[in-house]
Amino acid sequence: MPHHPAPLRSCGSATPESRPCPAVEARRLAKPFPGRRRTDPPVEAVRGIDLTVPRGTVYALLGPNGAGKTTLFRVLTTLVAPWEGTAAVAGLDLRREPGAIRQRIGLIGQRGGCDGTATGRENLSLACRLYGLTRKESRVRVAELEDAFDLGGFSARLARTCSGGQRRRLEIAMGLVHRPEILFLDEPTTGLDPLSRAGLWDEVKAIRGSGATVVLTTHYLDEADVLADRLCIMDNGRVIAEGPPEALKRDHGATTLDGVFLGLTGRSLRHAEASA
Ligand SMILES: Nc1ncnc2c1ncn2[C@@H]1O[C@H](COP(=O)(O)OP(=O)(O)O)[C@@H](O)[C@H]1O
Ligand SMILES: [Mg+2]
Repeated sequence: MPHHPAPLRSCGSATPESRPCPAVEARRLAKPFPGRRRTDPPVEAVRGIDLTVPRGTVYALLGPNGAGKTTLFRVLTTLVAPWEGTAAVAGLDLRREPGAIRQRIGLIGQRGGCDGTATGRENLSLACRLYGLTRKESRVRVAELEDAFDLGGFSARLARTCSGGQRRRLEIAMGLVHRPEILFLDEPTTGLDPLSRAGLWDEVKAIRGSGATVVLTTHYLDEADVLADRLCIMDNGRVIAEGPPEALKRDHGATTLDGVFLGLTGRSLRHAEASA
């Protein structure tokens, strides 16, 4: 039987400003999946993760493909229940208050979430309506987000005709319609050209500047280095190092994050990626 620790302290009733708790606090989170065949052992996608994400920061989960980043995101965003362990997200208990957590977070999945056959503006409006905004409120919010994310040039076009970078900006704007306290971005820049990536980094910094917390996953070392206030290096479903990028490099006597990963695993993250 899985062991379920007591819920972490819940501070959901306080306002975000007065809530002393971190954006995310996870203890011993584990999520195995059944093996492909019945005789195969389970895939331990996430195996006993402790994590604390301070409010108002950009926090990166860095690791090769298969490290468990997306699974951890799915658990923290209430899409799948953990098998073991517990977490508080936005000060609310993952097991007892999943609905309230969903109101306070935004999630942009690895594979995106916009409808290619609708325009950018239609996608934004739909997201607003799904979050319960009235037609009038939606119109105001869509205009605000078009302005903030500089979507005006392409929001009248079908999303599938936009560039990868434009679509990603649109998707991030869609994740912000309800002004979440915490935004989860799964590989926001994978596959984008360097210019679009740098543009998205600016958007992420602006979101942090507005007081929200951004939790993102990446397998780009430079991205984690430039963007993250703190990062958590994952491998095989576990956290193998955690802290601000500079401290990790200093503590491991490395000049790059790849050097940190190499020192910890004996593998280069670049190489782990290429062979994944
Ligand atoms: N729904 C699922 N069923 C079975 N195995 C899964 C499922 N989702 C993920 N996995 C496995 O869990 C491990 C971690 O996957 P994932 O969380 O997607 O890693 P990452 O996002 O770091 O690439 C991988 O071995 C993957 O094949
Ligand atoms: Mg993933």
